Amino acid sequence: MLDVRGIKKVYESRDRTVEAVRDLTFTLQAGELACLVGPSGCGKTTLLKIMSGLLDPTSGEVLLEGKRVQGPPPGMAVVFQEYGRSLFPWMTVRENVELPLKQKKLPATRRSELVEESLAAVGLAEAHGAYPWQLSGGMQQRVAIARAVAYEPHVLLMDEPFAAVDAQTRADLEDLIRDLWHKFQVTTLFVTHDIDEAVYLGQRVLILSNSPTVIRDDLAIDLPDQRDQLTTRSSPRFAELRARVYEQIHRVKPAVDKESVAPAGVG
Ligand SMILES: Nc1ncnc2c1ncn2[C@@H]1O[C@H](COP(=O)(O)OP(=O)(O)OP(=O)(O)O)[C@@H](O)[C@H]1O
Ligand SMILES: [Mg+2]
Repeated sequence: MLDVRGIKKVYESRDRTVEAVRDLTFTLQAGELACLVGPSGCGKTTLLKIMSGLLDPTSGEVLLEGKRVQGPPPGMAVVFQEYGRSLFPWMTVRENVELPLKQKKLPATRRSELVEESLAAVGLAEAHGAYPWQLSGGMQQRVAIARAVAYEPHVLLMDEPFAAVDAQTRADLEDLIRDLWHKFQVTTLFVTHDIDEAVYLGQRVLILSNSPTVIRDDLAIDLPDQRDQLTTRSSPRFAELRARVYEQIHRVKPAVDKESVAPAGVG
């Protein structure tokens, strides 16, 4: 379904060169829900931008259903880390959620249905007439999630989407993601800092190393498919898996500088 092959990204500017990711290769099967964890600055956002066709890799390629990604592919939705900048301030919540559906050329009645359903799913049924700047950070983030869900994507990429929400909402949204995934079998890559969240959500957890960034581990999460916040998180197997991920992340914690910064033209 989604093939990431030998992705390397080096950001070059006049006075510095940053190797954000060195060599990433993995495949997501259709309908899979995978989480990606890694230390801050290891290139998670960079990878997602490349996968969604917003940024060109220095080398390597991303294939979606066998076709090389060269611009934002139809059928893919992305929820960005910087949600504040991803909503249009001059449009209401409803209009923001509806916009991609218009681009998809869906008829008005279907658009309305999808907007209503997805806003209800993220607990914002009442907020459709509000403007993004009238909402809290967590609510704005839920609007961004509703917009992605309403689009009915085949592939959903999410970049730390719950960073700005409170613990209770976060738990609810985690369950929402699992429900949506069950219902639609969307191929999902979920990026998070949070080890527990990765283990709770994923069928699989990909662990990135610190820079130079490569995949350190690719762990199958063999927890029962029916998960709930209390029983799953308190099971012995959950504890084992989270310890395993923690160990890997811990091993890759930076000793000195987190960025691999070299003078331009070197390295
Ligand atoms: N546009 C850019 N120009 C130059 N360097 C960049 C640019 N974007 C990111 N970087 C650098 O690339 C590296 C990876 O950044 P990226 O944002 O992908 O990391 P991340 O894993 O998403 O971090 P976080 O967990 O904090 O969100 C960092 O060293 C960062 O400084
Ligand atoms: Mg990031």
